[in-house]
Amino acid sequence: MSIQPIGVFDSGLGGLTAVKQLRAIMPHENIVYFGDTGRVPYGNRSVATIRKYAAQDANFLLSYNVKMVIAACGTVSSTASDLGEKLPVPYTNVIAPSARAAVEATKNGKIGVIGTRATINSSAYKKEIERINGEIRVYQKECPLFVPIVEEGFTAPDDMIAKLTVERYLNVLREEKVDTIILGCTHYPILKKVIGDYVGMDVRLIDSGKETAIHASKLLKEKGLLNENPDEGECKFFVSDRTEDFSNLASRFLESNIGDNVSHVDIQHF
Ligand code: DGL
Repeated sequence: MSIQPIGVFDSGLGGLTAVKQLRAIMPHENIVYFGDTGRVPYGNRSVATIRKYAAQDANFLLSYNVKMVIAACGTVSSTASDLGEKLPVPYTNVIAPSARAAVEATKNGKIGVIGTRATINSSAYKKEIERINGEIRVYQKECPLFVPIVEEGFTAPDDMIAKLTVERYLNVLREEKVDTIILGCTHYPILKKVIGDYVGMDVRLIDSGKETAIHASKLLKEKGLLNENPDEGECKFFVSDRTEDFSNLASRFLESNIGDNVSHVDIQHF
């Protein structure tokens, strides 16, 4: 049993897809979230830069004495794949839990993977799927405009910019008739409705943040680190840019008002 918080980080809002799920399945856990909104997006940056940012983000969370670190970011997960080896606490990223869920979901053996440029260049999800089942065909597509669209809040199902961008990127996956798509960047589930409307209801969308949260809860249980305190857990949010913008969008996404529970952090110091 441990009342220490779970640490979750992402380049921006995307990791909230994991937080939402963590709160649903483990309401007693305390959570410290860091969104690197001052440096988002990570997805178009060099490998060296992404690795440096990932280490700083994890160090910041460790300064809050977290019992676990979750890299709720596809870009970090695929680019800084050895991050966990350097940390003194249990760690998970989004790759293995999402790949496993997709392999279990597909019926026709055709899986699409969408992510940032860095994620798709790494082929991390593809390699993991093929490691689990070499018969499956994997179709990858980078979607670099999705992150800024989410960070701008253009996420309503009828938003024309979101709809046109989804169509432009995903028509190739529709043509290949994939029956499962990994939303391999944690920002993308925020566009789930627009994506689902375009690819059709028969296509299973794997939410990488959600699958990772489920995996994290199993890991904490295995290690005897769950918080057994019956009170509702607290969430603290930190960002590296303006707190107001984050507060509004995050409250909308989490469907609960996080108000002024957001603080600024100078991430360069970590
Ligand atoms: N949520 C991040 C991911 O999962 C966004 C990456 C970015 O900042 O470009 O990849």
